[in-house]
Amino acid sequence: MRLGVCYYPEHWPKQRWAIDAEQMAKLGISHVRLGEFAWARFEPEPGQYDWAWFDEAIEVLHAAGLKLILGTPTATPPKWLVDQDPSMLAVDAEGRTRGFGSRRHYCFSSASYRAECRRIVTAMAQRYGEHPAVVMWQTDNEYGCHDTVESYSQNARAAFRVWLKARYGDVTALNTAWGNVFWSMEYRSFDEVDPPVGTVTEPNPSHVVDYQRFCSDQVASFNAEQVEILRRLSPGREITHNFMGAFTAFDHHKVGADMDLATWDSYPLGFLDMSPFPDAMKQRYLRQGHPDFQAFHHDLYRGCSSRWGVMEQQPGPVNWAPNNPAPLDGMVRLWSLEAFAHGADLVSWFRWRQCPYAQEQMHAGLLRVDAEPAPAFAEAGQVARDLKQIAGALPQQAPVALLWSYDGQWIHHAQPQGEGLDLLRQTYETYTVLRRLGLDIDIVPPQADLDGYRLIILPGLPHLSETLMASLSASSAQIIALCRTGSKTQSFQIPANLAPGPMQALLALKVTRVESLREGIVEAVELHGEQRGVERWREAVETDLPVQARYRDGAPFWVRDGHLSYLAGWPQPELLGHIIATLALEAGMEIALTHEDVRLRTLGNLRFAFNYGPEPVSLAGMAPDGADFVLGSAELAPAGVAAWRL
Ligand code: GAL
Repeated sequence: MRLGVCYYPEHWPKQRWAIDAEQMAKLGISHVRLGEFAWARFEPEPGQYDWAWFDEAIEVLHAAGLKLILGTPTATPPKWLVDQDPSMLAVDAEGRTRGFGSRRHYCFSSASYRAECRRIVTAMAQRYGEHPAVVMWQTDNEYGCHDTVESYSQNARAAFRVWLKARYGDVTALNTAWGNVFWSMEYRSFDEVDPPVGTVTEPNPSHVVDYQRFCSDQVASFNAEQVEILRRLSPGREITHNFMGAFTAFDHHKVGADMDLATWDSYPLGFLDMSPFPDAMKQRYLRQGHPDFQAFHHDLYRGCSSRWGVMEQQPGPVNWAPNNPAPLDGMVRLWSLEAFAHGADLVSWFRWRQCPYAQEQMHAGLLRVDAEPAPAFAEAGQVARDLKQIAGALPQQAPVALLWSYDGQWIHHAQPQGEGLDLLRQTYETYTVLRRLGLDIDIVPPQADLDGYRLIILPGLPHLSETLMASLSASSAQIIALCRTGSKTQSFQIPANLAPGPMQALLALKVTRVESLREGIVEAVELHGEQRGVERWREAVETDLPVQARYRDGAPFWVRDGHLSYLAGWPQPELLGHIIATLALEAGMEIALTHEDVRLRTLGNLRFAFNYGPEPVSLAGMAPDGADFVLGSAELAPAGVAAWRL
């Protein structure tokens, strides 16, 4: 359980570095991330490096006993590089070339930019790769931030054609897979295929999904080039990349597979303000963030690599959301401890000191602009003390596997067939229902080993691979497939045997019609004599299997064959909670109905509780009487954290 901070020595006078370093170490911080935006200072003129200032910063931090996470600076190519090679710039969907003057202006498909990146990463790794203080590398910074995974440049177009050729071999196979006979979209050669933009009405969804797959692969191969250099020149050091929240434009499982640990940047208040959550929720959790958002990403990124952490943790108001409130006192501590409870091995705050100039001058740090402590400073120190109480607790496999796939999200997204519907939303809603039952969850890719799980949920994965079907057939867990599961083939076609496609081998039912419903329309379902609701999506199914719950008009909703269940519609949380609770109890799992503001999580032999509400909460019913608390107590203050021994 390591604590870190993001630091920019290039923003401060040299005399300040030793004071900062000493103060960090005293606070309990052991790791410092630096360097990720400093290309123009590392190489002020093409080919002329200036490492002296960075050498000095590294020695100062090292002398204070700090360990270093070096960022490769490829998210911010300097002006001279852009002028020297304008073809490296990305192009947006409207055909506009991305301009210089902020960051992330490069195109992942530019071979010349990739060569420049390999050069600067090699130079940096040669200089610092074996420095005793350097323990980790971060490649680039937030791939895709500011919508930069997709580019429509000439470079991207050429690379897409190569990618398609490798995938399909000959263009007839592509025409068949995409169904290009429709609307006379057939191609005579790969050289005729453009990116799917600028069409009169929606482009072919198969084309859209393949373009997303291509863009995602470009990110993965761009990253892999840096990883190869770092592994060679900086042996034994960990490698990570900092992912973002609610971001699905590239396959994080693929990028994470090349990493020693996946990290992500957690900004609970900024994300809440920008999210589609209802206003009442945004008001209630204004200064806390949505109670499941952080944990969802912790569990998601834990499934993306062998270890994980938080590289940037919000310390106070940010600058980039439409509105930027301050956290409730105690939340910076709560967010940090919650990450550790989910098994993080690093939490690092962004940033050490608020910067007085440029784009992020309104973004808080642990220190204010005048170098005095901001409110988060004391909370960071408290976290360092808290860690002593919980050290040694290690994450274990959760009882629940929630399946998630980036490819599945792209399929849903390409043709949602209903406003606001996508796989991420369905997965997140399922996650919140599971959490209200006090359950621990692993969010896993379809290729994961599903052994040992007692409950497996498919929240609408559209395409079911052979590997996944094999693991599901071998599993004796309770399995719940929600509507839209198995509804597409990999090339975005309706399966010949209809949905749920290959799932029909396990569960004898067929989806014969689907409909999407506007927000606010609720279809009644009767379960155990009570009326509950389905919204947004309803399916008609043909089956002879037993029906556990029906729509009011008698049509099947919950179909069940032993340990396999199918839900022919999108259940409201109460209904889904009921079904999950029933099956979880049958599977011998323990559930706890939690207070709406409280979330629970187990780590090793410790059980944690977090209060996201603005009022105090008693843990009665959630913690045993006479629990042996190592943090907090049975009365949880707003932003309070408790942990007790199991
Ligand atoms: C992240 C980014 C940082 C900084 C931060 C501000 O997206 O990685 O460089 O911009 O947000 O909250």
